[in-house]
Order: sequence, then C-alpha cells, then structure tokens
Amino acid sequence: MELLCNAPAHASVPDRYVFPPEKRAALQLDGVDGPDDGVTLPVVDLHRAALSGDDGLRRRVAEEIVRAGKEFGFFQVVNHGVGEDVVRGFRDAAAEFFAMPVEEKMPYCSDDQSKPFRLASSTSYDKSETRYWRDYLKLQCHPVSDELVRHWPMEPTSFRPRLAEFSEAAHELAQTLLSLVAEGLGLRADFFAGDLSGGETQMNVNYYPPCPDPSLTLGLLPHCDRHLLTVLSQGDVAGLQARYNGRWLLVRPVPGAFVINFGHQMEIVTNGALASVEHRAITNSAVARMSVATLIMPKMECRIGPAPEMVDDETNPAKFREFVFSEFMEAYNTAAASREDVLDSFR
Ligand code: SIN
Ligand code: FE2
Repeated sequence: MELLCNAPAHASVPDRYVFPPEKRAALQLDGVDGPDDGVTLPVVDLHRAALSGDDGLRRRVAEEIVRAGKEFGFFQVVNHGVGEDVVRGFRDAAAEFFAMPVEEKMPYCSDDQSKPFRLASSTSYDKSETRYWRDYLKLQCHPVSDELVRHWPMEPTSFRPRLAEFSEAAHELAQTLLSLVAEGLGLRADFFAGDLSGGETQMNVNYYPPCPDPSLTLGLLPHCDRHLLTVLSQGDVAGLQARYNGRWLLVRPVPGAFVINFGHQMEIVTNGALASVEHRAITNSAVARMSVATLIMPKMECRIGPAPEMVDDETNPAKFREFVFSEFMEAYNTAAASREDVLDSFR
C-alpha cells in the first residue's frame, strides 16, 4: 500500500494526485475564505457548568445550535466539557502512530472495510482515478470493550488508553449535543438517544502531509456525511471547507473547539430541517494537518424516517420514505455512481 506519511517530502506532486482543473481547490476558493468575507461559522458556547442546572440557559443554547444548524449545517462548540488533556492526549498518540516506521504500521494496512481498525491511504472506495492527499485510520471506537480494544494498536503505548478516554468523552459530548438539538427542535430531549445514536461509533483519523502544490490536490473530495452526527477535532491547522450558499467557507480553527455537522440520517429524521452539508478538505504546503472525526451512527436495525413531529401533511409533507438503516448502508456501499445520489433514492 502506498502511504504518504512515510514518503520522503515530495518535491512536486506526483501525477496520480493531480486533480483535473474543475475539481481543484484553488479555482473554487471564490474569495469566500478571505479574512474579509464577512461570513463566519457560528461558535456556540455550551456553558458546560450551567447546562445541567439552568433551564433558561439550556434552552438558549439549544436554540442557538438549531439556528446555526439550519443556516450552515456546520458550527463549532467551545466550553464543551471535553478536557484539553483528553483531546491533546489522543491527538499526540495518533500523530505518533503516523510517525512510526512503515514496517510497524504495515500489519494494520488494509482496504477491507469490515476491519475494526485499519490504516489506509487516499480512499478505498475512490470512484475517481485521482488519489487524495491523505492517509487515514478508520476504526471502531465505541462502545469501548476489551474485545474492541484488542483491535487497536499496542504501539505507541499511549494509543489504547488515550483513545478509550477520548472516545468516551466524544461520545458523551455527542449525546449532550443530540439532546440539545432535540430540545431546540421541540422534540423530547431523549429523542435521539437509544437506537438512533446507539450504533457502533466509527472514527476517522485523517492525516494530510504538507503538499508541495495545494492548488493541484485535495485531501478529501466534496462529500456529505452519511450517519447522524459528526464531532470533529481539526486541531489548529485550517483545511476543512463547508458549502455555504454555493461557495466554500473555510472552517477556521478555534482553539480547543469541536466542529459539529450533521449526516444524512439527521437530515432524514428532521425532514430536511438540519441538512447534511457538503464539505471537503484542502491541503497546505507548510505543515501536516490531522483531523479526528467521531461519527455517531444509528443501530443497523434502527427504523429511520422523518419524525412525525417534523412533518405536516399540509405545509411540510414527508420528504423521505421509511427504511431500516442497514438498507441505507447497503445502498451507500454499493452505489455505482456518485454516493451523493444515495440520499435521493430514499426520497
Ligand atoms: C471529514 O470530512 O470527515 C474530515 C474533514 C477534515 O479533515 O476536516
Ligand atoms: Fe466528512
């Protein structure tokens, strides 16, 4: 397998990583990510300490989240209760993993999507010929059990304990956010708890090495997330862009923040109110970038469809049909053309 993280620094971009002009980032920046674009993604203060006791504050935070979600589909959260040491601990362990000699990582290299822990490059389901400028770990991170942890690497020695800790914390934050989203939408607070968010949580740790010419490459092609909710730590290096009014909006790193966005299942359950917004990762020539995405999934057997509370037969009829989540995953994994068309087949 061809990994970028062990390659000597590239003097130029090899041809197989060069995207055709219409897909390149530099031609699509449109000035939106300049400092004076006037549009910034909302940063929501979760006021962790106050959330449990102060109903008024909780309601305001819930409303703010839903407002941000409806307008952008993306927002950042601070004061979220996940300790800085927990985030740094796992990010450092993951960075150490990517920096290990290639022989030590080889046993984990695989394109077999059924593996609970694997290292790969570009993307295994890449329908285009061009390779992405990224390596990634794809792993199952929750519920944490002895059986699951056995699949995680022993080296670096910090990896297992730091991942277990991070995974629990990210999961707890996700549950808090889901209850706030539910309240903000006027649903009961535990609406998303249980099967809707109780599937096996996946994590993607993306590693984008410095790229000699970011105008030719992409770290990730534009895509929408397919699950329920994404909790992303992007660290302090910019690279994530979200679609906003037909243009690309840079998600500016905010120290200690998590970036939150919605997947297709959230879009379906809320009958389109909280949409799954397209995003991509661009590369940079200066420093490596690492992002850690925790993907909250429904259980495979969970029945999904627009919540009755989000539907009005007269004014807001159901935009999606009912299905079982495994059906969606099947359609997604076997999609012949663009995976972005999969959502349409559930309308
Ligand atoms: C993602 O879309 O899962 C990750 C994007 C990023 O690297 O920020
Ligand atoms: Fe994504």
